[in-house]
Amino acid sequence: MEMKLSLSVPLLFFFFFLKSQTLALNPNCEAQDQGSNLKVFHVFSPCSPFKPSTPLSWEETVLQLQADDKVRLQFLSSLIARRSVVPIASGRQITQNPTYIVRVKVGTPPRTFLMALDTNNDAAWIPCDGCLGCSSSVVYSPAKSTSSRSVNCGAPQCKQVPNPTCGGRACNFNLTYGSSSIAATLVQDTVKLSADPVPGYTFGCIQKAIGSSVPAQGLLGLGRGPLSLLSQTQHLYQSTFSYCLPSFKSLNFSGSLKLGPVAQPKRIKFTPLLKNPRRSSLYYVNLIAIRVGRRVVDIPPAALAFNPITGAGTIFDSGTVFTRLVEPAYIAVRDAFRRRVGRTLTVTSLGGFDTCYNVPINAPTITFMFTGMNVTLPQENILIHSTAGSITCLAMAAAPDNVNSVLNVIANMQQQNHRVLYDVPNSRLGVAREQCT
Ligand SMILES: *[C@@H]1O[C@H](CO)[C@@H](O)[C@H](O)[C@H]1NC(C)=O
Ligand SMILES: *[C@@H]1O[C@H](CO)[C@@H](O)[C@H](O)[C@H]1NC(C)=O
Ligand SMILES: *[C@@H]1O[C@H](CO)[C@@H](O)[C@H](O)[C@H]1NC(C)=O
Repeated sequence: MEMKLSLSVPLLFFFFFLKSQTLALNPNCEAQDQGSNLKVFHVFSPCSPFKPSTPLSWEETVLQLQADDKVRLQFLSSLIARRSVVPIASGRQITQNPTYIVRVKVGTPPRTFLMALDTNNDAAWIPCDGCLGCSSSVVYSPAKSTSSRSVNCGAPQCKQVPNPTCGGRACNFNLTYGSSSIAATLVQDTVKLSADPVPGYTFGCIQKAIGSSVPAQGLLGLGRGPLSLLSQTQHLYQSTFSYCLPSFKSLNFSGSLKLGPVAQPKRIKFTPLLKNPRRSSLYYVNLIAIRVGRRVVDIPPAALAFNPITGAGTIFDSGTVFTRLVEPAYIAVRDAFRRRVGRTLTVTSLGGFDTCYNVPINAPTITFMFTGMNVTLPQENILIHSTAGSITCLAMAAAPDNVNSVLNVIANMQQQNHRVLYDVPNSRLGVAREQCT
């Protein structure tokens, strides 16, 4: 099997599917987390038990990632619209959204879960012993953990979960996630992130899961709202964390999640975080303009403006793969990109990507201009390419038109190999280049 490593994103996933047997022995998978630093893996990483078992072609993989993104975007739109029902996506679901996972130890004695990171959700939840519809064999058993406690209906935490109900005295809740829904019981136990134990951490023990977008071993919410990791570890980490998402191209896929204000980069540019009282957990920022090459693209101001009433604006998200811009913004950026690449070249499409080329191209940089901070993306964050089919695509798209989409989402492919620092006490978000691959 001959495949060059200079290829593209999803083709490498394919490479891993084939090589997963040998790479499963990669010692980096066993490397321990240290201090307040956690390793971050891609769900397709050789270290991940969630990597797909059936090989997919490059095109299938791209289309699959896009289909998952669509569910994610509908989910994010439903959050801002406060609708609780999310349309079910068609097509196979092989990946879990969100796409990055960390190791978390839960209970006494501790059991390790590979939990998905989600910056736009608050609560944490893991599969419970006896769960109906959970796919994981790694489950949390309250009866087997000496530090487990139940949370009763009258507890303040029971008012912070969606749709709370009383089951006997226990606090139960349910929620929709992506195209799925879960029903869970609220419990407390010691949760250990890297070296730091957090006693009495409140999370959901999943009793029932419907649908396939529930991350197999649970979810760690990094949002700003109550019950999130930030709120529950306020004393330890002061609502400050950063991550560096590794490139899809890297062999060990190991990035890092740094918790707490200590050891965060000093040289980093910041933009203010905006708060939407209707959706307090989302990390909104003010995107003022977008540059393609050196030229600022002409975008209708309404396409970028923050509006807490409609939920419009721009968020950073760790769970969407490819950046989505509302249609007028995307079209302006895409047209500028096509002009820079060259009018004489034929533009083709692939799935939801409408700006693809069958010949090598000389692509311009793209700069997101936020209040106080310009972030210029290198080519590896803008383009996906396959050597096999020699297709290169601009890895962004317009927000899906079948939802009332007003949200620009800066997604994880565009964030890779950058440290993104969420400094909630100072209400700002920082971005700096960092090669964490
Ligand atoms: C990832 O692999 C590279 C080389 O392949 C190595 O230098 C680096 O230390 C590895 N990173 C981790 C976190 O294991
Ligand atoms: C979730 O909870 C609400 C309110 O308690 C209830 O009406 C709904 O049927 C529940 N949904 C599921 C899927 O359990
Ligand atoms: C961002 O770049 C523009 C030029 O395109 C410049 O005018 C502006 O001052 C820069 N902003 C920051 C915060 O550096």
